[in-house]
Amino acid sequence: METKIIPSVIAKSQKELVEKIEKVMDFVDYIHLDIMDGAFVPNESLKFDFRIPEELNFEAHLMLQNPDKWVEQNWQKVERILIPIESCKHPKELIEFLKDKKEVGFVLNPETELESIKKHLDQINQVLIMTVKPGFYGSEFLPETLEKVRDLRKLRPSLDIEVDGGINPETIKKAKGAGANLFVSGSYIMKSENAKDAFNNLWQALKN
Ligand code: DX5
Ligand code: ZN
Repeated sequence: METKIIPSVIAKSQKELVEKIEKVMDFVDYIHLDIMDGAFVPNESLKFDFRIPEELNFEAHLMLQNPDKWVEQNWQKVERILIPIESCKHPKELIEFLKDKKEVGFVLNPETELESIKKHLDQINQVLIMTVKPGFYGSEFLPETLEKVRDLRKLRPSLDIEVDGGINPETIKKAKGAGANLFVSGSYIMKSENAKDAFNNLWQALKN
């Protein structure tokens, strides 16, 4: 399993998307795109037909009432698609459709139990466990969500487990201790004066 720190982008326009990508593209190889419809979560992001550079890898974190439809229309845009189990209408069919095309994972919001995805674990590449209430940069880290990371790590020693929300040099250590290996960071990197320094601080915290 690889360890990665993946910056996240919330953007309302192509211009904002480009600015945020440019902030981090020199030192990362993966970027997390937060796709929000204003209904599944009370915020909108990347709701338009966005364009992204081919030389980087992107994962789409869907916060949508109808993720099935987004997948049908947009699956070609990104390398990995992370689907909220709460609103996914046809999880089995989506896994089948994306097989051999893209990597696929399910997302668990803080209130959602691990139980809801257990039957799919052998068919997916990754699980994303939300460590904040989804929707915005800068929400409060919820330590109790790491319980699910611990339980899932016991169940699947080599599955990619990603955490998203409230990641900073302190919380990243806790998430690593619980068993996560992929760490999404929004405001800590994107809202810092120097994004590369912030990224390196997180790496440093992981090593200590
Ligand atoms: C919103 C998004 C997160 C967000 C993380 O919940 O899914 O990816 O960008 O931002 P921070 O790291 O500031 O909590
Ligand atoms: Zn996200």
